[in-house]
Amino acid sequence: MSGLTASGQADRRTATNAALFFRRWLANPLQMGSVIPSSPSLCNRIAGLVTRAPDEVVLELGAGTGVISRALLAAGVPPEKLVVVEIVPEMAEHLREILPGVNVICGDAFELARDLPQRLHGRVGTAICGIPLVLLPIEQQRRFVQAVEAVAPGKGFLLYTYCITSPLPYGKLGLSARREAWTPLNFPPASVWQYQPAR
Ligand SMILES: C[S@@+](CC[C@H](N)C(=O)[O-])C[C@H]1O[C@@H](n2cnc3c(N)ncnc32)[C@H](O)[C@@H]1O
Repeated sequence: MSGLTASGQADRRTATNAALFFRRWLANPLQMGSVIPSSPSLCNRIAGLVTRAPDEVVLELGAGTGVISRALLAAGVPPEKLVVVEIVPEMAEHLREILPGVNVICGDAFELARDLPQRLHGRVGTAICGIPLVLLPIEQQRRFVQAVEAVAPGKGFLLYTYCITSPLPYGKLGLSARREAWTPLNFPPASVWQYQPAR
């Protein structure tokens, strides 16, 4: 027994998450895109936008220390219907420890056709992108859009961002865009955008 109260355990988990996140940011700032994990307010806003049919999964790309994953579970996504993809092995290992029952894939969100099990192709209700796409050249952004389209045709994805305007040049990427949420209770304040293939 740790002897800690529930709030003490939550504080310790927050400190562990922040330390791991910051260490990874020091190692590769462009891959992380942020120095600290998303806030509870942002995680809850994202969880509130998720939709899926009973046989579909929620696909979280770039799960980091799992703050959004936990908000998704708290919002009612069953663990077996949550699939998270994280490229950093140390973070994927951490996610497996803290997210029992969740399908944690240590893989590349730009290679979903390869890294997502075939049985899940076409069975994605909502894809959530945590990867800092705004920092990438448009060719890379296009590769990401195509990677999602390959496994979740027509679904598009949610993207959270610190930008005030759309972080993606959606017209050039063949997408439509809508800002679905904003919260000042994040550092920095953040928006959630929904992108879908333009009709
Ligand atoms: C801004 S952090 C978001 C972490 C977490 N979702 C949150 O909101 O706090 C970006 C995460 O994406 C991961 N990542 C970056 N490129 C990736 C890729 N190509 N495939 C999968 N994960 C990637 C990073 O390792 C990092 O954990």
